[in-house]
Amino acid sequence: MLKAMLEPKSIAVIGASRTPGKIGYVVLRNIIGYGYSGRVYPINPHANEILGLKAYPSVLEVPGEVDVAVITIPAQEVPKAIEDCGRKGVKVAVVITSGFSEVGNVELEERIVKIAREYGVRILGPNIFGYAYTPRNINATFGPMEIEKGNIALISQSGALGIALMGWTIMNEIGLSALFSIGNMADIDVAELSELLIEDPHTRVIAIYLEGIKPGRGGEFVEKMSKVTREKPVVAVKAGRTSRGMRAVASHTGSLAGSDQLYEAAFKQAGIIRAYTVEEMFDIARAFAQQPLPRGENTVIITNGGGVGVLATDAAELTGVKLLDPSPQLIEAFKQTMPWFGSPKNPVDLTGQAVVDNYLKALKVAVESPEVDNIVILYCRTAVLDPRDLAKAIVEFYEENKVEKTTVTSFVGGQDAYDAMRYLNRHNIPSYSSPERAINAISKMIWYVKYREAKRKK
Ligand code: ACO
Repeated sequence: MLKAMLEPKSIAVIGASRTPGKIGYVVLRNIIGYGYSGRVYPINPHANEILGLKAYPSVLEVPGEVDVAVITIPAQEVPKAIEDCGRKGVKVAVVITSGFSEVGNVELEERIVKIAREYGVRILGPNIFGYAYTPRNINATFGPMEIEKGNIALISQSGALGIALMGWTIMNEIGLSALFSIGNMADIDVAELSELLIEDPHTRVIAIYLEGIKPGRGGEFVEKMSKVTREKPVVAVKAGRTSRGMRAVASHTGSLAGSDQLYEAAFKQAGIIRAYTVEEMFDIARAFAQQPLPRGENTVIITNGGGVGVLATDAAELTGVKLLDPSPQLIEAFKQTMPWFGSPKNPVDLTGQAVVDNYLKALKVAVESPEVDNIVILYCRTAVLDPRDLAKAIVEFYEENKVEKTTVTSFVGGQDAYDAMRYLNRHNIPSYSSPERAINAISKMIWYVKYREAKRKK
């Protein structure tokens, strides 16, 4: 049933508006503009045509089947619209409308859920900004029209933050497969959506911004999410950690934030990777989305700067990343890639004199060595090596050699280092502005592989 959201043959917009700037107008414009190729039906009793499409007075008047209906009419009219959806055989109603339990209108929310259940319609929302599924060019939101395509599915309990992240992800070269706003979670909840994504071939990792789950559903949440994490990594930010934060959650989505220790324990039990900021969530999700899962724990750091090498080493120790103690043969091989005053141990320090060729030689050694499972490439701005040249060379090397070893990078410097990072990120090599962020991301990948192996053995 929920699968209809990912592969709808048709979408109706109940409350499609003729007025530019209204939510019902923007949703319809985004569905058309982002390139959805199925049938689109604007529903509006006062219009014959909207944005070049024939409009219908009711969803019941639509000649063909309707899989998904996006609802953008005022709250008091939603029950009737849900009933019409039920009679029409709509599978999922995406209720953007606000004015339900989040403002104490619990009864109205219960009423729409009751009607939906009678007819077998599923409800996403209410009080949401819509949803998107990029492989099918579906943008049924009132956020920006453009969404960067990729392999991260984002589920957001906050509407405004979700919309903001649509632009933010583009700016940060982060590609999304799906985007779900879940709002009041009157029916479909975060765990069910995550389950839906298990089978989705376009989603490699699920990222969640969560404020709270429904009271009494903790056990179900853990059970369903454990099933998900056996197949795909899930990274979540749980907001409302402090007592004031919890009060803010209550007045935002009406969720019970609950004690932070309870969530911490539930996440652990379900194998959910917890991030503490949205930036960290995407740092980790990016690594999962762009890199193969680590085949083992032995990690090598290749750097041109001693300082960033030491910072990365500390971060590795603190996050449980096992730094390889290279064999004498491997030390000898690394020695050949650097000036005589470099350090061939781990971190492999090519020195500030390093140029592209040193990096490529060291990378070749690391990639070919059976001792090395994962690679961390660090770069510190020096006048002898333009980071953009290094980024290009790394991408070329990885593509030409079809490198299968998990790799993250960190480029520290000014605008040119930033440009190099963007280039790497665009070419599926995760790049971060500090060594600690790179190490944190790879540490979560290594943790996940171990967690999953242990779970699957049980
Ligand atoms: N069936 C079909 N069309 C209808 C119906 C109906 N029963 N009733 C009204 N319409 C038409 C209207 O004529 C109008 O079209 P028009 O502009 O061409 O005349 C259109 O549907 C919209 O109806 P309006 O009455 O104009 O409603 P309005 O756009 O003012 O508000 C809305 C509707 C947007 C759903 C509002 O009630 C609402 O809930 N806004 C908040 C939405 C929101 O923020 N959601 C959470 C997002 S998350 C976040 O935090 C950002």
